[in-house]
Amino acid sequence: MSKKATIITYGCQMNVNESAKMKQMFQNMGYDMTDDIKESDVVFLNTCTIREGAAVKVYGKLGELKTLKEKKNNNLIIGVTGCLAQEVREDFIKKVPYVDLVLGNQNIAKIPDALEKIQSGEIEHIVLVEDEDELPKRVDADFGDDSIASISITYGCNNFCTFCIVPYVRGMERSVPLREIIYDVEQYARKGYKEILFLGQNVNSYGSDRLDMKENFALLLEESVKVEGDFWIKYVSPHPKDFTDDVIDVIAKNPKISRMLHLPLQSGSTKILNAMSRGYTKEEFITLAKKIKEKIPDIGITTDIIVGFPGETDEDFQDTMDVVNEVGFENAFMFMYSKRTGTPAAIMENQVDENVKSERLQQLMRLQNAKAKEESTKYLDKIVKVLVEGPSRKNKEMLSGRTSSHKIVLFKGDKKLIGKFVNVRIEETKTWTLYGKIEE
Ligand code: 5AD
Ligand code: SF4
Repeated sequence: MSKKATIITYGCQMNVNESAKMKQMFQNMGYDMTDDIKESDVVFLNTCTIREGAAVKVYGKLGELKTLKEKKNNNLIIGVTGCLAQEVREDFIKKVPYVDLVLGNQNIAKIPDALEKIQSGEIEHIVLVEDEDELPKRVDADFGDDSIASISITYGCNNFCTFCIVPYVRGMERSVPLREIIYDVEQYARKGYKEILFLGQNVNSYGSDRLDMKENFALLLEESVKVEGDFWIKYVSPHPKDFTDDVIDVIAKNPKISRMLHLPLQSGSTKILNAMSRGYTKEEFITLAKKIKEKIPDIGITTDIIVGFPGETDEDFQDTMDVVNEVGFENAFMFMYSKRTGTPAAIMENQVDENVKSERLQQLMRLQNAKAKEESTKYLDKIVKVLVEGPSRKNKEMLSGRTSSHKIVLFKGDKKLIGKFVNVRIEETKTWTLYGKIEE
């Protein structure tokens, strides 16, 4: 009977991408993948540590795996990869001694070797976590039946926003050479993937770590859309401070570049933005968002917002509400500030009371929901190109897909259309979802 492996992915798209690479490695080693940990011989958790809650979830899952390992008389190998592994390093084994392998983000290519050593009993625990200063070894990924493939175009981040742990766990920014990315785009386009998602902590500073500065994000987009095939390029996440006119122009003239724009605001208060080291003011953000909307009218802007950053007063919070009101985000991921040990904000004075944070989050969500509903109506009576993703989760009779701007669309249609592009006329709009009919 063949061996079985499970990968459980937490956190961002970067982890989804790295899990696809791990999946390919397991399959190359002869494993069958399963979602059922009970029948697994090897379980890897690909972890996240962006907020405290993310780390808590991982430790919760590890508790469950401990019980399972005991039931299986120790016949279960547990591995941990991703940002929590990178952060906690050797201490993982001290805290959670039943974990066999701890591999940092730089080292996922070493899984086969490390696993062999554990299985042979040669070593009891393996911790392979290095500081991240090189490009990780190139490995292939398996995105399964999905019509979406992703490519990491940069690793790490140089911004050191004061709340964020990412630069400490993912290291300084390293850009993948342009020709390698284009090679991957060609490969995925040829295989028939319909969406190619570029990943990086700060995609639009792509190339800024290279001496000649010839390879930049605008050029990368321009070269990517020259690749033959019916696909669109999405990318997450750009940073407002690096959003050049060149990039706006390239997107505006190329329908093959997605109309989704995830532009993290973080706060609407210039004072807080300064304390966060974000590199832009309230007014600069609003001006940028308006300019983009003017030049690319079908763009759908989404964002990330943190409430309760240290020192945030009611006035500062009101500035955030103002920006949300003025810009009109189609969607927003909203978080209460969470202390991350080792980041400058964790030791700032004037930490905000948890109740105040929670109250502000509720208030912000109410406003954003109303704005999202309003933004949604702009799709009414429009014909939009939709990538069909699968049956709707709630109503199996309907298909679900996404627009170029990443809005969910539900419509009736044949299951054969899954993984293909269709045109849909929008007949009804709700806050999160559009409803329509396929246009023949
Ligand atoms: N607390 C709360 N939210 C955070 N984010 C990053 N770090 C923190 C933190 N310490 C949010 C930011 C970022 C998103 C991925 O997670 O909004 O854009
Ligand atoms: Fe974190 Fe800021 Fe880098 Fe984004 S840009 S990963 S928020 S440090």
